Amino acid sequence: MDLTPFLNRDSKIPLYQQLIKFFKSNMHDGRIKKGMKLPSKRHLAKKLLISQTTVERAYDQLLAEGYILSKPRSGLFADYDESFLIHPDPKPAELPVQNFNGTTNEIIDFHYGHVDSSFFPLSAWRKNVVASLDKYSEKLCRPGDVLGEIELRTLITEYLYQSRGVNCEPNQIIIGSSTSYLLQMLCHILNTSLKVGFEEPGYPRSREIFELNRKEIIPLPLDSEGLKMDAVKKNIPDLIYITPSHQYPLGRIMTINRRLELLKWAADNHSFIIEDDYDGEFRHSGQPIPSLQALDKENRVIYLGTFSNSFLPTLRISYMILPRSLLKKATQITSLFKQTVSSINQFALAEFIQNGEWQKHLNRMRKLYRKKRKIILEAVKRELGDKVKIHGENSGPRILIDVYLELSEQELIQKAENHGVKVYPVSDSYKKGYAFNTMSLGFSGVSEEEIKRGIYLLNKSWDLK
Ligand SMILES: Cc1ncc(COP(=O)(O)O)c(C=O)c1O
Repeated sequence: MDLTPFLNRDSKIPLYQQLIKFFKSNMHDGRIKKGMKLPSKRHLAKKLLISQTTVERAYDQLLAEGYILSKPRSGLFADYDESFLIHPDPKPAELPVQNFNGTTNEIIDFHYGHVDSSFFPLSAWRKNVVASLDKYSEKLCRPGDVLGEIELRTLITEYLYQSRGVNCEPNQIIIGSSTSYLLQMLCHILNTSLKVGFEEPGYPRSREIFELNRKEIIPLPLDSEGLKMDAVKKNIPDLIYITPSHQYPLGRIMTINRRLELLKWAADNHSFIIEDDYDGEFRHSGQPIPSLQALDKENRVIYLGTFSNSFLPTLRISYMILPRSLLKKATQITSLFKQTVSSINQFALAEFIQNGEWQKHLNRMRKLYRKKRKIILEAVKRELGDKVKIHGENSGPRILIDVYLELSEQELIQKAENHGVKVYPVSDSYKKGYAFNTMSLGFSGVSEEEIKRGIYLLNKSWDLK
């Protein structure tokens, strides 16, 4: 136990009595638990710069009062009678148990962004964590690079070039613990009264980060090809935030022509475009389209990526790729905040990528999501039929359904929840108007059986047949 009693040397109360008071009050508060070993007299005296006799006097008194126990050749241990305690340890409050028709632990959660634990490569990950601890033991004992460990940034550069055509050097990448954190950094880096064009509907968390930073938000409507250019040209935003490869939440893919038109406009108007490529890895049909960053010849694109959806949401590793013109300011700003991702996790991920495990995992997930997508589409057609319209099914582990029933969004969610199924709204992605009762069904975190049962239960809960 590494205890640090703070002693008042100016007080009239002798030091040994202050020590007694400290130990007793910590036992009463439950901070020193019964059975805990106390620091040795020599250790405590040395740490507090007091004599061993002072500590000995305090310990003798505690022994005499029955607060501590001396075990031969082992030391002193807290050993008080629980009834001594004025404030006994509060019992943890009983957690409320939610009950859905008596099937509490059978909730089928179509949350987008969950990972199916039975497919997570735990043993490969464990092996690479251990290997990275050995390999990088020296580096782990020094402060890490504020932009992120160069080993990981180099591997991300190679991976993105191969998979998304992204052109960058490792020093253009900033690692961070979330997309929101990286956007916050970006607001500090750009630091002007920005007019931010934001796709409507769009990812609410990112929009709120800009609002928090008092940026003016201009909602930009979409059509089937992507961002509508007339609205862009009319408003001339300084910065535009889009999710072109899997529009959040609608799931559309921006066409190549629209991408090129937007890039040309950005270059002519000296505006930046934020490309949030949050799950660009998972495209289920059609030709692969290069990322916007890959098509950009004028350094107007700021690229965002994350391992939250493709690997593990709790790892907390996301990244931002900046045009070279912003690098100097970015380094200054990030240095103030330091790196938010533990180097241990960064090295483990680097090792995982280096050993080919990352690519293996991605291939496995692509196959799995294609299979789950087929199952959910069949189930929705079978169970919900023409009462719903499916969209957004060509990319990412999620579909959207417009529900043609006389029920509000909240009623649909509540009725489903009463049957043990969680579905999610889309209305919070809109800053302005909202027309349909659209439900979001993520399928990455549910098993194939749960998908079938979940959709069956939706039919029952919404009383479709
Ligand atoms: C549009 C969008 N961007 C980014 C992210 C990832 O956020 P983070 O990097 O903070 O995990 C998500 C996660 O679901 C998302 O939907």
